[in-house]
Amino acid sequence: MTTSTFNIEKCGACLGALVTNIDLTLKLSYQEKISLRAALDQHQVIFFPNQNLTPNHQKNATEIFGPLLPSDTFFEHLNDDPHVEVVINDENNPPIGTAKWHADLTWAKEPPAGTSLYSREIPTGKGDTIWVSMTAAYDSLSERMKQYLEGLKALHSWDMGLGGRQAIFQQGGDHYTKRKNSNPPIAQPLVRTHPRTKQKLIYVNPGFTSHIIDIPRKESDGILSFLYDLAPRPEFQLRHKWDVGTLAVWDNTATQHAAVDDFFPAYRELTRVTFGGHGKPK
Ligand SMILES: [Fe+2]
Repeated sequence: MTTSTFNIEKCGACLGALVTNIDLTLKLSYQEKISLRAALDQHQVIFFPNQNLTPNHQKNATEIFGPLLPSDTFFEHLNDDPHVEVVINDENNPPIGTAKWHADLTWAKEPPAGTSLYSREIPTGKGDTIWVSMTAAYDSLSERMKQYLEGLKALHSWDMGLGGRQAIFQQGGDHYTKRKNSNPPIAQPLVRTHPRTKQKLIYVNPGFTSHIIDIPRKESDGILSFLYDLAPRPEFQLRHKWDVGTLAVWDNTATQHAAVDDFFPAYRELTRVTFGGHGKPK
């Protein structure tokens, strides 16, 4: 598709598009912003290569897609800015848990509608990110399975934390308990309707979902195991190889993602900004 200024080109079977001929340091028109929002709704993850962004540029670009959210993950904030986190891995900071399939903060009352990630330093040919379309995964189910899943709720917990909250625990038991108590486990719909596209999607992930509510635990384990096996299927995925200066923006409702954990102990640095606007899951 061609707009008046930039090009949007699909780059995956189920999800993904490349936006080129655009400079995100410049002011965009209202119509251009509408086109970009529509592109994210349609393609679920979009990439802007060859950018040269300051953290403020990244915030401005991310705000096109929804109101900025102060972040609440395990990454450091950049210069105490609550909206910008720095994701740094090196020999002293191995990747922790982000190789596990997840959507961000699904344990929150109103999880982020989306996230932007900007690559500042990338080990050559390593540290890819994979996104999977959970609308495509839902569409692959039989009508019988869709009926079974309809109306179920599953528990999402902060303290599952993609395999552990060691970094927060190391800051002290009291600190950990305080964080845990301010983020109690929450029941979210197992099948969610996307608030903008109205597409149905599977809304459980192995990073944060422990069990389905009101069915026997063994049954829950079996159903979740079946659903978790959908994300690793290549036909629902897009694998992105990072270059320095690419901004990726993804729909955190429609997709899950996993980082490819193959670059330790190399240095990798990205900045991360999240935005809201999708409301409480339903
Ligand atoms: Fe994530």
